[in-house]
Amino acid sequence: MTNPALDAVQECISQRRSVEAVRDTPIDRGRLHALIAAALWAPNHKLSLPFAFVVASGAARDALADAHAQARRRVAPGMSDEAMRAQRALTRRAPHIIVCIHRATDDDPVRRREDRDTVAAGVQNLLLAAHADGLGAIWRTGAFVDEPEVRAHVGCRDEDEIVGFVYVGEPESVPPAPPRPAVDDVTQWRDA
Ligand SMILES: Cc1cc2nc3c(=O)[nH]c(=O)nc-3n(C[C@H](O)[C@H](O)[C@H](O)COP(=O)(O)O)c2cc1C
Repeated sequence: MTNPALDAVQECISQRRSVEAVRDTPIDRGRLHALIAAALWAPNHKLSLPFAFVVASGAARDALADAHAQARRRVAPGMSDEAMRAQRALTRRAPHIIVCIHRATDDDPVRRREDRDTVAAGVQNLLLAAHADGLGAIWRTGAFVDEPEVRAHVGCRDEDEIVGFVYVGEPESVPPAPPRPAVDDVTQWRDA
């Protein structure tokens, strides 16, 4: 029996790709707003609402790059100007960067973990919504997320975490799907 609703969800999930190559054309604020709205529908134990987002567009991407460059210079003071330019250019890879932040709501480590998981689930919602809207998006992390200069720039308190930088734009090219394991290779079916 076919189930069109399930087919649509499965197709959206499996067809979504991490898209690096996007045009530097701004996206309407309303479309970005809808992506964040999708993130907020993530399951959330106790409805603690542990989300915060910073959307860096236009020149605000350079301010983010400056924070990152400060961090790089602190770690590697001898970095060449060219290497520094390359680091600064990283935030120009898409017209918008949505910084997805776990805003801690509780000191309890279990609740903290749950809240971070909620934000991660929200990022996936956001990526799926971007795909459904024909946008290209990629979740990026790396050392960037832990740099104190970057964290301070986006308003993280000590207890908050940057879960990801989602780069968003109109897709220029979409890569092929990387392989996924077969369900039965990663699943034990225990019936008794
Ligand atoms: C937590 C997390 C961090 C990621 N960080 C990066 C990153 O820093 N750079 C990058 O190119 N891709 C990053 N990715 C994207 C993955 O590389 C991508 O999801 C993977 O290659 C599978 O491709 P697909 O999303 O198209 O299925 C990240 C994904 C996740 C879930």
